Amino acid sequence: MSNTQDSQDILVHTEEGVCTITFNRAAKKNSFTEAMYRQMADALAAAKVDAGVRVVVFQGDIAIFSAGNDIADFLKQASTPDTMGADAPVWRFLQEVSAFPKPLIAAVCGPAVGIGTTLLLHCDLVYAGDNAAFSLPFINLGVCPEAASSLLLPQMLGYHRAAEALLLGEPFMAEAALEVGLINRVVPPSECNAVAQAQARKLARKPLSSLIETKRLMKGGQAKAVGERIVEEGAVFARMLREPAAKEALTAFMEKRHPDFSQC
Ligand code: COA
Repeated sequence: MSNTQDSQDILVHTEEGVCTITFNRAAKKNSFTEAMYRQMADALAAAKVDAGVRVVVFQGDIAIFSAGNDIADFLKQASTPDTMGADAPVWRFLQEVSAFPKPLIAAVCGPAVGIGTTLLLHCDLVYAGDNAAFSLPFINLGVCPEAASSLLLPQMLGYHRAAEALLLGEPFMAEAALEVGLINRVVPPSECNAVAQAQARKLARKPLSSLIETKRLMKGGQAKAVGERIVEEGAVFARMLREPAAKEALTAFMEKRHPDFSQC
């Protein structure tokens, strides 16, 4: 058993072949800071080569999975040139998660906003509490999709349902996510993390080489396209973050008011 952590915002704990990454910033709704992306990218890079890790689980708590990227960080990045370059922690995390060779499981309760939802497109199994609310609010923030969601979501949901999710940016609940195949099962929130852990334990008892080859074959020839789309989206996202629409949206969130896009 091991338990390593750089800060308390991300907890990394490995037991019986299952590495669990817990989002632990409830006061800010588990929104992800640069430091948290860095920790998660490091944890995945280590788990990838650690023979003692067979499965990785992402989990929040019973009330919140993640409110997505920290908005204050976005505002900082919008006013600081080059902070969202290709080697920014968020892009490194996305490359690690999208290319992760072993099974990834997510347990989702409460809101899963932005990267809280797009992360799930790279998970192999997703269990959700009936209080889970998924949303892709990039449009409402004046930016564009990330994590290759502009590629993967139309493939998974069909173009029109993906367009509804990405162009309107409205939340949808666990039952709707189940219907479109975004998640595996809806469970009571109090059982969600335990269900994910039980499934992880089952996977951890399978032969690792078979897990890895099965996942690789199911992902098919898509890996290169996904990696390229993450880079392409990242460049557009970083540019848009500095434009008036994003500045208005992010400032409005911090000032707890509705954004005014009439000039954007
Ligand atoms: N970044 C930074 N802080 C955030 C945050 C984020 N993404 N999401 C929430 N917070 C902070 C709030 O500012 C608030 O801080 P305060 O107590 O210092 O005022 C605290 O977390 C609680 O948030 P609140 O909005 O009051 O909680 P809620 O339960 O009413 O709503 C959410 C929860 C997740 C639905 C809502 O916070 C939200 O929509 N967050 C923004 C999501 C977003 O746009 N993320 C970017 C995706 S790309």
